[in-house]
Amino acid sequence: MKILLLGSGGREHALAWKIAASPLLTKLWCAPGNAGIAREAECIALDVADHAAVIAFCRRNQVDLVVVGPETPLAAGIVDDLSGAGIKAFGPSKQAARLEGSKGFTKDLCTEFNIPTGAYSRFNNAGDALAYLRGQGAPIVVKADGLAAGKGVVVARTLAEAEAAIAMMFDGAFGTAGAEVVIEEYLEGREISFFALCDGETAIPLASAQDHKRVFDRDQGPNTGGMGAYSPTPFVTPAIHDQIMARIIGPTVAGMKARGTPFRGVLYAGVMLTADGPKLFEYNVRFGDPECQVLMLRMMSDLVPAMLAACDGGLKHFDLRWYPQFALTVVMAAKGYPGDYAKGTRIEGLEQAAQIEGVQIFQAGTMNKDGVILANGGRVLNICASASTVVEARRRAYAAIDRIRWADGFCRRDIGWQAVEQEEARK
Ligand code: AMP
Ligand code: GLY
Repeated sequence: MKILLLGSGGREHALAWKIAASPLLTKLWCAPGNAGIAREAECIALDVADHAAVIAFCRRNQVDLVVVGPETPLAAGIVDDLSGAGIKAFGPSKQAARLEGSKGFTKDLCTEFNIPTGAYSRFNNAGDALAYLRGQGAPIVVKADGLAAGKGVVVARTLAEAEAAIAMMFDGAFGTAGAEVVIEEYLEGREISFFALCDGETAIPLASAQDHKRVFDRDQGPNTGGMGAYSPTPFVTPAIHDQIMARIIGPTVAGMKARGTPFRGVLYAGVMLTADGPKLFEYNVRFGDPECQVLMLRMMSDLVPAMLAACDGGLKHFDLRWYPQFALTVVMAAKGYPGDYAKGTRIEGLEQAAQIEGVQIFQAGTMNKDGVILANGGRVLNICASASTVVEARRRAYAAIDRIRWADGFCRRDIGWQAVEQEEARK
């Protein structure tokens, strides 16, 4: 089977590694890929935004399946265009991708299908938004409706912060993504991620995880794409797992089908575990990055038949098997990220780091120049480790990091802290 993977991050390196392990695979390409992905796939210079070029490549090379990593091509309708050309593609249609592309769309779906979420209201002008805000008080959450590269959410502790966020969004800080704003109730609780694989009708759970969005230890500093993750999280007990499937994922898949826009692909729920039970605060329509890296380490089953079943409506009788271990990943980023950072700095010691038991390294923003790995982005490396406890997985990941020589890189030193605290309290 010939597969084309789209993307260039650590998520796609993990997907390429997992797909490459499938006995079904005969050839894997990745566009555009990175230096790590190049060890698993042939990286090609295809403009993913040019759907006609992607279709032409698939036809020329008889590609059997296209796997879409990031949200931007999904929101642009690449799966619709590929399907229309008779090419199988893993991921949601443009309409179904609105679950990530429009916060207001998702909130309205929650109302219609009784999915637990925070109270909210949608606005298309600052005057009405400010009036509503003053009636609600703080803390409160202000969200740009559209895709804003993870920067469109302001959790406002005070009314003044919320007012500033509204002014900024209606002033065009996020372009058309901020032309509409959602104001949402602040949800108090522990934040977890939950992943499910969907075929338009059936959803099967993948796993839970916890991401670490802030750039510095103890969850300080600005938000990032994610500085580390681990899976599964002990906070998603079997009872909470069942509640998330029954009250959030199940009704979403049923609702999308009832509306005539069935959801196929990976549904990634951002869930707050509140005193009133799990509540949805956002959807993404793809694997998380870096959560995908830990999910792929834990998945025992072949990923390729699972993706084919999701494309073909065959998940009803499908079963996925997982390794019982925990997996944890620490992101190494270029100094300055998520602000400005230098590119082209030299990274050494990756081979020695990867020799530590249970360690797997996935690359994100890297390039290979004459055999030397150079940083080529903000998030650059994912140092992952598996073990029977989170404490041990974390020890292995940081032991590997201590073997990497990269003067211009940094990482958080406390990935997994919530689970580590819990494991240590139980001793
Ligand atoms: P996002 O950029 O959409 O991933 O959201 C950024 C962060 O905002 C999330 O990871 C949550 O920590 C937080 N957040 C979003 N919605 C809420 C909410 N209703 N209540 C509390 N925190 C929230
Ligand atoms: N790690 C957060 C995301 O992928 O959106």
